[in-house]
Amino acid sequence: MDGLEVVVTGIKLSHPIMNASGVLASTPEGVARLIDAGVSAVVTKTLTKEPREGYKTPITIPLPIGLLNAVGLANPGIEAVGKLVETGHSLGKPVIVSIGGRDPEEFLYLAEKALEAGADALELNLSCPHTPGYGVDAAKTIKTIKEVVKNTASISNKPVWAKLGYSRLLVKEAGAALEAGASALVLINTIPGMKIDVYALKPILSHGYGGLSGPAIHPIAVYSIYMVYREYKPEIIGAGGAVDWETAIELLAAGAKAVQIATAFHLKGYNIIKEIINGIKQYLKQTKRKNITEIIGSATK
Ligand SMILES: Cc1cc2nc3c(=O)[nH]c(=O)nc-3n(C[C@H](O)[C@H](O)[C@H](O)COP(=O)(O)O)c2cc1C
Repeated sequence: MDGLEVVVTGIKLSHPIMNASGVLASTPEGVARLIDAGVSAVVTKTLTKEPREGYKTPITIPLPIGLLNAVGLANPGIEAVGKLVETGHSLGKPVIVSIGGRDPEEFLYLAEKALEAGADALELNLSCPHTPGYGVDAAKTIKTIKEVVKNTASISNKPVWAKLGYSRLLVKEAGAALEAGASALVLINTIPGMKIDVYALKPILSHGYGGLSGPAIHPIAVYSIYMVYREYKPEIIGAGGAVDWETAIELLAAGAKAVQIATAFHLKGYNIIKEIINGIKQYLKQTKRKNITEIIGSATK
């Protein structure tokens, strides 16, 4: 016992750090590599009904402040879910399956497949900002958010996590998702953004616009988690610019019970997970705290 254990929607985690959807977990090898890197749970790439190739390159642009991406939800499709879950389980880790439907019926279909495969929780992608038909597009209104969550939760014997992005209506959307039966919220997805080549006078990403992640969005993630936690005290899994122990602790202090990492893998490589965990251990020692749970939401008090 090193004081890092957390329980998220009933799932026992040896520490609060996992990958965020989109990073590597679209193949069994990717799942194994993440587990080797030290994540306490694996979150799969968002899986859609059919496989998707995604957009043409360039699909990512590294920026001094983070990363801009428009991958276009490239994924092997829901039929790949069995092998992903099996690999995670054979290595002793819970697997959270991220699903992305175009409408409430498609979410239901994907949820059934993921549950049949043994998913430990479902993460509903209601927030990808750059793939027309999916993400924010499939969850355009509070009514649709409610419908997707309610439908999915009604057939699920496993926790349903609703992943939302920042918006002016975030607190309302979060409330609607919780009311509809979400066991937890994942906050936040990337934030729409773009970059233009000043000589070509054209957007650099092949899709034109994309999603901004990494350090640039960290204060927005802290704010989003803080506002939602203060309002409802729900279980939150934080994502957005956690690139070291300090930025991870901020998300926890704002109200997250666990932290997801995406861009930091691009910036710092696989060692990032162990680096953050060691940093959190040091922090607990330095601040004379026995358990990481002592700091969850403490900045809202
Ligand atoms: C290359 C890339 C691919 C992503 N793909 C997905 C995805 O498939 N589904 C999803 O819900 N979020 C996806 N995201 C968003 C991340 O899961 C995360 O919410 C966001 O990047 C903020 O965390 P970060 O600052 O640690 O990157 C992706 C992010 C990146 C950078």
